[in-house]
Amino acid sequence: MNNKITINIDFIKKFVTEDELNGIFSEIERINRQLEERKGPGSEFLGWLDLPNRTIESYAGFQELVTEIRQEADVFLVIGIGGSYLGARAVVEALEPGLDEKGPMNPEIIFAGYNIDSVYMTKLLEYLKTKSVYVNVISKSGTTTEPGIAFRVVKAMMEKVYGKDEARKRIIATTDEKKGALRKMAEEEGYRTFTIPADVGGRFSVLTPVGLLPIAVSGNYAETLLDGALNMKEILQNSSYDVNIANLYAAIRYLLYKKGKSIEILSNFDQKLVYFAEWWKQLFGESEGKNGKGIFPASANFTTDLHSLGQYIQEGRRDLLETFLIVKKIQDHIMVPEDEKNLDGLNYLAGKTYHEINLKAHQGTAEAHRDGGVPNMTIYLPEINAYWLGSLIFMFEKAVAISGYLLGVNPFNQPGVEAYKTNMFKLLGKPGF
Ligand code: PA5
Repeated sequence: MNNKITINIDFIKKFVTEDELNGIFSEIERINRQLEERKGPGSEFLGWLDLPNRTIESYAGFQELVTEIRQEADVFLVIGIGGSYLGARAVVEALEPGLDEKGPMNPEIIFAGYNIDSVYMTKLLEYLKTKSVYVNVISKSGTTTEPGIAFRVVKAMMEKVYGKDEARKRIIATTDEKKGALRKMAEEEGYRTFTIPADVGGRFSVLTPVGLLPIAVSGNYAETLLDGALNMKEILQNSSYDVNIANLYAAIRYLLYKKGKSIEILSNFDQKLVYFAEWWKQLFGESEGKNGKGIFPASANFTTDLHSLGQYIQEGRRDLLETFLIVKKIQDHIMVPEDEKNLDGLNYLAGKTYHEINLKAHQGTAEAHRDGGVPNMTIYLPEINAYWLGSLIFMFEKAVAISGYLLGVNPFNQPGVEAYKTNMFKLLGKPGF
C-alpha cells in the first residue's frame, strides 16, 4: 500500500524463524500492556505517549509567536543539544525546500549550542551581524554546559545589538516548568517561555514545543507532524502483532541481538534523512545502552557510504544488522539523458529517473548485504513530509520503549551521560566538583 508506513522483513527470514518471532509474541503483548498501564521501569517518563493527542492551540501563544518570528526574523537561532536539538533538526532538514522548490527558508533556521566549537561560534556571530535574529534556547534541565555557554555568548550579543528590551522580546526559552537555571533566568529577564512537560524525557520531546516551535517556524508543519504521530499511535494500538511495525521491529532487533548482532545500521538512501538518522541514534543509543546491554546504533547515508562503509558491511565482522529507510515517492525527477556517442556506456540508463535508479540501488544493496550475512529489514515511507515524519517518529519511540523493556533496561533514563560531565566540571573547577 502506498499510503502508509510499511516494513518488509523478507531479508531477515534466513536469520530469524517464524517460530522465534511467534515465541516472543506474548512477551511483547505484556510489554504493550505495561506501557499502556504505565507500570514498567521509568513509567514516570511516559508523557510522550500522550503528545500526539495535543493540538498546537493547546500551547498558549504558540501560533502568534510563530507568525511574529516569520514576519520579523531573518534567522531563528535554536540553541540546544541532544534531545533538545536533534528532533527539530531532523525534521527541519528533511522538510527544507530544495533549491528548485520554494527557495531558501525564511527565516533561516540555524542550530547552535550542540558543540563547544569556537570556530563555529565565531563564524556564526559574524554571520548574524547583518541579520534580524530571534533566539530559542532549549534545555530541560536548564543547566547543560554546551547550550548554556552558547546562550551566554548569544545573549550578550543580542543585548549589545538590540538593547535589553528588544533582546528580551526576541529570546524564547523552552525549559522545565519550575526547575533549573534557565527557568529562573527566563522569569527574571522576562522571556517568553514554553514548558517541557516533566514526564517527557529529552529524546522523546520532539512533539513538544522543543521540536514543534523550530519546526513551525521553518514551515507550516507542526500540526501535520502531530496528526501523523496520532495516526501511527492509533495504528499501533489497533493492529495485530504480525503487522504492527513497532512490535515487529522491536522483536526482530531483539532476536537478532540475542544471536550476536550487536550493531544496527540505519541506512537511508535520501540525503534529507541524514539528520533523521542522527535523531534515531540518540533515541536508541541513550534508551538502550546501559547495564552492559543494548544494540549500538550507527547510521549510513547511501549510496555515498556504499563507497566507504560498504566494504565493511559486506565482508567485515558479522555482528551487524541493518534497517533501511526508503522513501517511495520523490517529487524531483531528474532523468538520465540519452547520449548519441554513449562514450560512458550509460545509455542503458537513459530515460530512467534518479529515483528509479536509487530504488534499484537499495534493492541490490539489501540483497547483497543479506547474502553477505547481514540481516536487514526495510521501512518504507510513502513520502518525505511532515505527516509521515510524525508517524515515523512515534513508531520509533514506541519501538524503543518495547525494545528497552525486552532487554530489561529502563529506556527512559540516561545515567551514563553524567560521567563525562562530572570529569569536565572537575577539570574546569565548577564549585562542588
Ligand atoms: O535525552 C536526553 O535526556 C538528553 O539527550 C538531553 O536532551 C540532553 O542531554 C540535553 O539536556 P537538556 O535539555 O537538559 O539541556
